[in-house]
Amino acid sequence: MILPKFMLDIPMELETCKNLSKKIEIDIFMLAWNKFCDNPESIGNSKLAREEKIRAFRLIQNANNFLEIGTFNKANLAWLSSLLAFDAKIIDLDIQLNPIKERLIKNHIKPEQNYTSIIGDSTHLNTRNKVIETLNGDLLDAIFIDANHVMRCVLADFAQFANLVKPDGYIFFHDIQWEGSEKIKGVADAIEIIQRYAPVYQCVGNNPISHFHRPFKNGQFWGGIGIVLAKDLIGLI
Ligand SMILES: C[S@@+](CC[C@H](N)C(=O)[O-])C[C@H]1O[C@@H](n2cnc3c(N)ncnc32)[C@H](O)[C@@H]1O
Repeated sequence: MILPKFMLDIPMELETCKNLSKKIEIDIFMLAWNKFCDNPESIGNSKLAREEKIRAFRLIQNANNFLEIGTFNKANLAWLSSLLAFDAKIIDLDIQLNPIKERLIKNHIKPEQNYTSIIGDSTHLNTRNKVIETLNGDLLDAIFIDANHVMRCVLADFAQFANLVKPDGYIFFHDIQWEGSEKIKGVADAIEIIQRYAPVYQCVGNNPISHFHRPFKNGQFWGGIGIVLAKDLIGLI
């Protein structure tokens, strides 16, 4: 795929996401995935889905405060706990309670990591307040927005939580390739709006890191990690 140079012009700090995954990274990913994932055949478990996550989340290596919005079976959060600092504060936010996986993740994380589960609708103000309470005066190093994939909800999650991220932190989005369905606009539509104001970079499968663009074909595509640098949002949110 040949793209214009300006689309491939990425900041230095994203250089770490360029290389494809190494065996050791895949092994660490699979360890969590096999333990937490009930359906190993799911799309979220495909080689390309794994590849883009491993590459993008190199950015949170040793980070301290992390929030995942929409955690489902907690496989992703369990994997990320292995990348985060030994004493990281990990916040799990989902609208649904999952007691089995919650018990499992509490036993899976590093002994000094601190895990908090918040059950609530991420688009509601009181849920944001619960995150602020949990942070107890701290800010987040990164957030992963992966809850309701409808455009207005992705924008709401961004509005609610991006301003709780430190200026040198990151906002990650999942399924940036999803353009919605016949009646519903999806993640890609939300990302396109955000990109009007601040750069959004994308890590899709094993493709080069670039500025966000919609998929080249029409259809239902999932996956793709979007990355916003919190410093690019200063003065905007
Ligand atoms: C795609 S799954 C998350 C997958 C997970 N992050 C991963 O990488 O494997 C979406 C999750 O978002 C949750 N969810 C959907 N709408 C939500 C909302 N408004 N607030 C909080 N969680 C929500 C669902 O319960 C579900 O667990």
